[in-house]
Amino acid sequence: MEIVVCKDKAEASRKAADMIAALVKRNPKCVLGLATGSTPVLMYGELAKDVKAKKISFRQVKTWNLDEYYGLAPTHDQSYRYFMNENLFKKIDIQIKNTHVLNGLAKDPVKECKAYEAAIKRAGGIDLQVLGIGSDGHIAFNEPGTSLKSRTSVVYLTPSTIKDNARLFFHGKLDEVPTRALSMGVGTICEAKRVVLLAFGKGKADAVKGMVEGGMSQFCTASALQAHNDAWVFCDEDAASKLKLKDYYAWRSATVLKG
Ligand code: GLP
Repeated sequence: MEIVVCKDKAEASRKAADMIAALVKRNPKCVLGLATGSTPVLMYGELAKDVKAKKISFRQVKTWNLDEYYGLAPTHDQSYRYFMNENLFKKIDIQIKNTHVLNGLAKDPVKECKAYEAAIKRAGGIDLQVLGIGSDGHIAFNEPGTSLKSRTSVVYLTPSTIKDNARLFFHGKLDEVPTRALSMGVGTICEAKRVVLLAFGKGKADAVKGMVEGGMSQFCTASALQAHNDAWVFCDEDAASKLKLKDYYAWRSATVLKG
C-alpha cells in the first residue's frame, strides 16, 4: 500500500485526479469504480476541470459505483445516483448509459447485486476503484464484521455510520437515513486492478491507522487493502497523523511517484 501524505486535501485531490487522468489518457475505454461521500468531491471537480480544458475525455469510459441506499429512488436528492449525476456526471462528457449505480428500488435486490457483479465482469473488471473510508474503517458500506471476501449484497449500516451520514447529508435528520444499502463487497472491491483511497481530516485518523498499521481484520474492512498489490492512499496530514511510519510512507510514495 502506498501512502501519499499531502499538505492538504486540495493537493491530495489533485494528485489522485492526476492518477485517474493518466489512466483515462492511456486507456480511453477504461472501467472506473466510483465512490460517493464528501471526500471525493474535490477530486471530481479536478477531473471536470481537465475535461473542460480538453486534457481528457470520458466519452468511452464506463463506471460502476460502490453502493446505493436501499429504498431510495435514483431521483431522491440523497441517493448516490443523484449525488454522482450532480457532482461528476453532469460536469464531464461521459455517456450516462455508461454509468452504473445499484438500483436502490430493485424488487429483487439479491438479483440486482448478482447482475451488477456479472456486468462488471463482462466489462473486463474495474481498472481503477476510487474509495473513501468511513470513520469506523469501512469501505463502500462494508461495516465492521463483514467478511473480507464478501461480494455485492444487501448490507446493514451501523449506528455510527447512520449518524455520520445524517451529519453530512440527509439535512442532519437521523431518522431519514436508510438503515440498509446495496454495496459492492470487500472481495469485489479488492479485485480492481488499482485502488485509490482518499482520506481527509482528523476524524479519519483512527480509520487510516487501522487500515494501514492495524492487523488485517473484518473489524476494519479497509484493512483488506493490505493484501492488494496496487493500492494508493491519498491523505492529508490530519488523516495521516496517527501513522507510526508516516514520514517513511511519505518519502517512499514520493519516490515511487517520481518513477
Ligand atoms: C459512506 C459511503 C462510503 C464513504 C463514507 C465516508 O459510508 N458509503 O463510500 O467512503 O460514507 O464518507 P465521507 O467521505 O463523507 O466522509
